[in-house]
Amino acid sequence: MTTRSGNEGGGGREIEEEEDEEKLRQRKLEEALEVKSLRRIISAYLNYPDAAEEDVKRYERSFRKLPPSHKALLSHYPSKFQKLRRCISVNSYFIFNMLQAFEPPLDMSQDVDDGCEDSHLEHEHSHHPFAKPDEACCGEGSSAMCQSLKGLTNNKEVITDGCHESAAASCLTELEDNRGTVECCGNYVNDTNGNVPSSSHDWLDPSIQMHVPLVDVDKVRCVIRNIVRDWAAEGQKERDQCYKPILEELDSLFPNRSEECPPTCLVPGAGLGRLALEISCLGFVSQGNEFSYYMMICSSFILNQTETVGEWTIYPWIHSNCNSLSDSDQLRPVSIPDIHPASAGITQGFSMCGGDFVEVYSDPSQVGFWDAVVTCFFIDTAHNIVEYIEIISRILKEGGVWINLGPLLYHFADMYGQEDEMSVELSLEDVKKVAFNYGFELEKETTIETTYTTNPRSMMQNRYFAAFWTMRKKSAPQGKQTSPLDN
Ligand SMILES: C[S@@+](CC[C@H](N)C(=O)[O-])C[C@H]1O[C@@H](n2cnc3c(N)ncnc32)[C@H](O)[C@@H]1O
Repeated sequence: MTTRSGNEGGGGREIEEEEDEEKLRQRKLEEALEVKSLRRIISAYLNYPDAAEEDVKRYERSFRKLPPSHKALLSHYPSKFQKLRRCISVNSYFIFNMLQAFEPPLDMSQDVDDGCEDSHLEHEHSHHPFAKPDEACCGEGSSAMCQSLKGLTNNKEVITDGCHESAAASCLTELEDNRGTVECCGNYVNDTNGNVPSSSHDWLDPSIQMHVPLVDVDKVRCVIRNIVRDWAAEGQKERDQCYKPILEELDSLFPNRSEECPPTCLVPGAGLGRLALEISCLGFVSQGNEFSYYMMICSSFILNQTETVGEWTIYPWIHSNCNSLSDSDQLRPVSIPDIHPASAGITQGFSMCGGDFVEVYSDPSQVGFWDAVVTCFFIDTAHNIVEYIEIISRILKEGGVWINLGPLLYHFADMYGQEDEMSVELSLEDVKKVAFNYGFELEKETTIETTYTTNPRSMMQNRYFAAFWTMRKKSAPQGKQTSPLDN
């Protein structure tokens, strides 16, 4: 509440009440927007089977247009289409189980249509107009971007018994068996044994489901590819390229980790949480931060609800017919997860914190809190990378380390027609200059060749020559901060 000195009269109280009302109104509006955004994300997940079915129908239409002589050469195609449908059904079964296990952090039953204009949401969404393939997210020229509606997942974390919880986050100790069956979009989706799921979640009710653009469903496909990167044996090669060097570096930089007082490590843009989990298993109090509900819903399901290794089967590669060596490659199943997270050997205090990195970690409580910050394929997600670096410096302890691995494929670059969209796109050289200005010293620097969510059997393998560095925060930021790029 605002306090004003020297004005104890009725006028002062009225002003305070008005300000409180205004804040309450603002909070309600923000929550309504967040509910709407979350409904849209859930709807995108629920739209997955229909959108995938549309693709198969499109393939069938093209096939039907072939002259009989050509059709005869591809007589296995009708059976491939049926196989595709079965794969879609299995993917959908996984998705619906995941949604059913999800506990929305907000009251999803509230009426958000009043006072919550779509135009605002449309504006938020227009930050991500899919103007270019987001290769950093999905790779291989996917037309999807894996970003959420920024600013709508501003959950504030609560710390309970050393276990950080945010509205969208939960602790690994909270294992529950929420598995069951769900009803989706009025269509019943059979599981692999032909059982028909039914829903117990009101917010999965088809009547509140929104129509979403196909680009939203593309984000669901993007999450499926990220599942392979983080939670499948097929993703091991990519994890070895990206996560292993980071884990080895942390291991050598913190050789005498104490069990009583483990070092703290933050992983902003944690995606589906595997790296944050591996860091926890290494003996750190690890926190992943992620602002996309698409990602948080999925990581929470895998981290909290997994009962056995290989519990689920998905078909991640069915959505692209391009660069495929064979149908069996395209239609191959992938078992997930490759480990049982709850018995992986985590260090107490492991958490995932939902929310925008800038909002959450600008909080004064974060200053000088972390021994290490690890960014993997993250820093180029910034509107203003200087702000990211400034926050990383501020939240690190003196002598703390920043380990980064990734390219500089700025997510908001080339947003044609969006003149107000901020995107500061520094070269690697300038990124380092800015970091030095914020008190960092470079201890190690190299380049790592890697893919990102790439189908290992595809004929196309986009490779990044990712920057990999370790910087140490040596000193408090220097006085002259206004123009770090002067020289
Ligand atoms: C390219 S992905 C990398 C994910 C993971 N680090 C990996 O290597 O697989 C970038 C991630 O950062 C998240 N992200 C983007 N901007 C963010 C922000 N401002 N705060 C928190 N997370 C963010 C995205 O939702 C996405 O999951």
